[in-house]
Formats: sequence, C-alpha cells, structure tokens
Amino acid sequence: MNDGQPTESDLKKALNYLLEWCAKQHFDNTSTQLNVLPDTGLGQAEAARLTANLSLNRAQSFHSAGWFAHMDPPTPWVTWTTQAFTAAMNQNLLHPDTGEIGRQVEADVVAALAPHFGMDGGHMVPGSTLANLTAIWAAREVAGAREVVASELAHLSVAKAAHVLGLPYRAVPCDGAGHIEADQLGNLEGACLVLTAGATSTGSVDPMTPMPKAAWVHVDAAWAGPLRLSPTHRSKLAGLDAAQSVAVSAHKWLWQPKDSALILFSDSTAAHQALSFGGAYLAAPNIGVMGSSAARAIPLAATLMAFGLEGIAERLDACMALASRFAGHLEADSRFELWAPPETGVIAWRPVGGSVPDLRAKLAAQGYFVSQTKLDGEDWLRSVAIHPGIDVDAVYHAARS
Ligand SMILES: Cc1ncc(COP(=O)(O)O)c(C=O)c1O
Repeated sequence: MNDGQPTESDLKKALNYLLEWCAKQHFDNTSTQLNVLPDTGLGQAEAARLTANLSLNRAQSFHSAGWFAHMDPPTPWVTWTTQAFTAAMNQNLLHPDTGEIGRQVEADVVAALAPHFGMDGGHMVPGSTLANLTAIWAAREVAGAREVVASELAHLSVAKAAHVLGLPYRAVPCDGAGHIEADQLGNLEGACLVLTAGATSTGSVDPMTPMPKAAWVHVDAAWAGPLRLSPTHRSKLAGLDAAQSVAVSAHKWLWQPKDSALILFSDSTAAHQALSFGGAYLAAPNIGVMGSSAARAIPLAATLMAFGLEGIAERLDACMALASRFAGHLEADSRFELWAPPETGVIAWRPVGGSVPDLRAKLAAQGYFVSQTKLDGEDWLRSVAIHPGIDVDAVYHAARS
C-alpha cells in the first residue's frame, strides 16, 4: 500500500502547528492522552493534528526565559526544519547505498570540529553515554586498558560503560571545588582515566595540565566541550589536546535536537579500526556501537553554517555571562549559598536554612525552572545556563521574594 505524498495543504497545516506554537497560541488542548492504536486509522493529517495538540502544547518548553534547569537546550528553528529533512529522507548511515549524503555531511562536520579539540577525527553517536562507552571500548582494544578510573563526580555513564565492558571501576575523590584529586589517582598504568570537563552537577573541570599519564585518557566533555569554540573560554579546557579521546554532546551546548553527540579520537584511524565490524551485506565497515544510524549531522551542519564560529562563541559567551551574573546575585545575598563559583555555566546553590525542594517548587509555580542534585549527600539546587535568553534576574528575584 502506498501512503502517498502529503498534499501542500497537509504540509501547510503541519507547519501551522509549529507556527502556532511559536506564537504561543494554544491549541484546543482537549487531549491529555493519545489513543495510539485505534482499530481504524484516522489518516495522517488528523494524526498530525492530535499529536501537535498533545506534544507541542504540553511539552516542557526549553525556549522559555525561565528555563534554567537541565542540560536540554532550546533548539534554534534551523535545527527543527533540517531535522525534518532528515526524517523525511530517513537515511541510514550504516550503508553507503542508504546514507551517502548523511555519511558525507557527518565526515565534513567531524573534520571541521575535531581540530578544535586537538583530535584528528571520530564519528557521531546519539549521546555522550554512547560516546563514553565507545571511548572506553577503544581504550580497552587499542591500549589494553584493564580498569576505568574517574572522579566521584563523573557522569553515571562512565561507570555504566565499565560495567558493560566488564572492566573494574574506581572512583577518585574530588577537592572542595569538584576537581579530581591528582594525588589520589594511584597507579594508572593499565587504566583508562576518564576526566570530566563540565561535571553534571557542578560544571567543574578536572585539571588537564599536566595531563596525567595513563594507558588511555578520555575526557568526558559532554557538557563543557563546546567552550573550546569560544576564544574567551577555550582556556578552561586547556590540556584537552593531550587526551586520546573526547566526548562532546551536541544536544547540550550546541543546541541540537536529540540525539546528537560526537566521539573524537587523537588517532581515529587506530580507534576506528579497533571498533570496526564488517562483511555480509555491509559495503563499508560498521564503526562503533551503532548499527543503523540517522543523519544527525544534518541539523548540526545547518546550525554551524547558520551561526558560524563567531555566532556559536557569542551564544556560549552569553550563557557564561548569565551564569556569572546569577552567581554574583547569590554571592552578594546572605540568604543564599553558592556551592562554588561556576566554572562552566552550571551553578549549584541553595537557600540558607531553607528547603531546597520547596524553593524549587515555588520557582516552578512561577515558570522558573531549576533542577536539584545531591553533593556530599546534601540537597542543592542546580541551574544550567544553556539558554542564551534566560532571565537570570527574574529567577533570582523570584527566589528571594
Ligand atoms: C558530563 C556528562 N557526561 C555524559 C552525559 C551523558 O550524556 P547523554 O545524556 O548525551 O547520553 C551527561 C549528561 O548529562 C553529562 O552531563
């Protein structure tokens, strides 16, 4: 059966849902749940209407100026439209027959970005959980790593990767500002050392100068990696070039729709060779964890072209300035406590003597969203400056009122 091409009017209607959403008009808002498997199909136009009504209207909005909570960005419109191209083309990068253009654009994006991280190549994956797994897998195959070592603030995906790969995992304590304690690293001879550039809860960056000597050093720069594209903030990740691999999430501080991340290697030929499988129906080696794989480089390429390096840096610098401004408000106000000065746009803070969950709920009721984390077993609020248009003054005033 042929589902046919949409009519111009079908496409206009679907686009109109997005236009209405942009204009903050509300849909009829009657559906709270979709009957996702009706006996008789409703047709694509009606299914699009119902889905728009529920998903666009009711999803948490990362585009709001009160979004100061998690590492999920507002997506520039060029990313949605080009993501729709990707879905419409439905390329599969696994095989050149099905993904020639997607493979080419991914190679171009990786070639353009890798040198900014001191790496010579790599590939895209759906997220940094998989980027970290890929890196540690390469460390085991290429350098014979027999153990994974990371700070106590490392993302859970690092311990998860060690578990999947059957490698023991050792957590190293951090100093009071969230940096791995260099003198507690112990013997790293057979280790994949994972340093974090932008810890999830605190944004802290493990020291990389001098880079510790290990069988393999991987830097989980899922969050703060893009700062390497900012001349103002690049030095916060100094030393990164000496790593063997770097993970960067594009669906965090490069404002991409999910799922989009990069795993980069200093010697991508050796790493890719070690992670390649082939034969049977494959005409090119299948590199890394993924099999079928979307053309996720298309919206990233479009974003990089739309803003250029200067525009990306401008947006990152704006986020960093907003984080500093918010931290400044808190520091000057004895009613609040700052965990540490923010290094990379993540601020851990809390009310002195007040309840962290209560303040979080009070802010959410006014449309200001902050998240919550635990540090040394205690509750902290966590604000993430991922939206260049966050109204940090309004968040602060709402917190103190
Ligand atoms: C430092 C760090 N590493 C890895 C990850 C996992 O990335 P993803 O959610 O893209 O799988 C995160 C997610 O927040 C993170 O903050």
